[in-house]
Amino acid sequence: MFLPNWLTAYDGILHAEGIPLTQIAGDFGTPCYLYSTARIRENLKHFREAFAGIPVELHYAVKANPLGAILRLLAREGLGAEVVSGGELLRAMWAGFPPEKIVFTGVGKAVWELELALEKGIRVVVESLEELRTVEGMARERGRYAPVALRLNPGLSPETHPHLATAREGTKFGLDPPGAERALESIRRSETLRLVGLHLHLGSQILDPEPYAAAWEYLLGMYRGAREAGLSPEFLDLGGGFGIPYAPEERRFPLGELAEVIRERIPEGVTVMFEPGRSLVGDAGILLTRVLYIKEVHGKRYVVVDAGMNDLLRPALYGARHRIVPVVKRPGPEREADIVGPICENADVLVREAVVPPLEPGDILAVLDVGAYGSSMSSQYNSRPRPAEVLLHWGKAYLVRERETIKDLIRGEIIPEFLR
Ligand code: LLP
Repeated sequence: MFLPNWLTAYDGILHAEGIPLTQIAGDFGTPCYLYSTARIRENLKHFREAFAGIPVELHYAVKANPLGAILRLLAREGLGAEVVSGGELLRAMWAGFPPEKIVFTGVGKAVWELELALEKGIRVVVESLEELRTVEGMARERGRYAPVALRLNPGLSPETHPHLATAREGTKFGLDPPGAERALESIRRSETLRLVGLHLHLGSQILDPEPYAAAWEYLLGMYRGAREAGLSPEFLDLGGGFGIPYAPEERRFPLGELAEVIRERIPEGVTVMFEPGRSLVGDAGILLTRVLYIKEVHGKRYVVVDAGMNDLLRPALYGARHRIVPVVKRPGPEREADIVGPICENADVLVREAVVPPLEPGDILAVLDVGAYGSSMSSQYNSRPRPAEVLLHWGKAYLVRERETIKDLIRGEIIPEFLR
C-alpha cells in the first residue's frame, strides 16, 4: 500500500509528521478529518514549478474544501479564490482573499449574490444571457462598470465520471457557441459591461491533458473573436479539474505537459488562470474513523465504523473508491469486507470490498485522499453532528473546526406555538 508522503508507518503505527494517528483520534475523537499544511504547500509548489515562466494565476476552488484555516493558508500563499456562492464569497473574504483576487462562477447566482459581487468589485463569470442582462441592469443602476467573464461550454467530453464533466452537451453550465457569440455582441454594445476574461471549466478528476489542449484551442479562437469585435479580455481561465491518483495504478495529472501545450501560445498581455481544488488539497486530508462492530450478514462480512456517507459522500454519490488503512496493523491474513457507516441506507458504504488485515472493535482506520470534497460535501443526515477537523503544521495538531454538537443539529428550529 503506498501512502501519501506525509504519513509514515513507524513501530507498526501510522504517524503524521511524528504524531501517532491513534493520539490524534484520542485527542480529537472520531470521526475526524486531518489535513497537512506541508502537503498542501507541496502541491502548490508542484503547480507553480510546472507553470514557471508562464503568466499564470491560481484561484483556489473554495468548494473543494472551504475550511477557514485552509483558505487563510492559501490566501497567505498569494492565491486567489474561485467561489460559486455568496456564502463562499464571504467566507473567502473573511479568510483573507482580497476581492480583486476572487472570481465568482456558478450557474445560478441570486440577485443578492450578484449585488454583493458588484459592490466588492469582484469579477463575475457569467453563465447565461439572462444573467448578463441582470448584471448589466445592476451596473447601470449603480452607474459603474461591471467586470465580467464568459463561461463557455463548447461541448467537450473529457474522460471522467459523467457527473464530473461540465463542458459537454447535456450539461447546464455556461454558454454554448451561439450563446457565447450573442453574449460577446451584448457586451460590445453595452456601456457598463467590461469583458475581462473567458472561462472554460472542463470538469473534475481528469487525468489526461488532451481535453485541456482542445479547451485551450477553443479559448484562443474565442479570444481572437473577442479581439476582432473590439473587446480585450485580460485572462483566459482553464478552470480546474486536475485529477489525483486515488488508486496505485492511477497517475497524477501531468501539469508539465499542459504547461508545454500553452507556453508558446499565450496572447500578448494575457494571464492564464487555473482554478485547482482537488489537486491542491485532495491528498492532504484523511478521515479517521473507529471500528464499532464487525458482523456477518448472509455470509458477507461488514466492518461497521463511526463515519458514514454523511461525513464522506463521494463513495455513495460517485462510486468513488478511497483507500482505507488501519492505523495499527494487526498480524494475520487479509480478508475482504465492506466498510460501512451507521447510516440507514444501503449506499452507506465507505469502501466496498476492501481487503483489510484483521480488525477489532475500537481499531482506528484512515480513509485516504479525502481533503477535497470530503468535509465540504458532508451533511447532518441521520442527525449526525459533523466531524471535528484538525490541521497539522510543523508536527503540531491544531483543532480548526470543532465537532458539531447536538445543539448545532437543532439550531434555528422553532416549535410553533400551536404545538407548545
Ligand atoms: N472551477 C469550477 C468552475 C468548478 O466547478 C470546479 C469544481 C473547480 C474549478 C475545481 O475542480 P477540481 O480542480 O477540484 O477538480 N464533488 C466532486 C467534484 C465536483 C467538482 C465541482 N466543480 C467530487 O467529489 O469528485
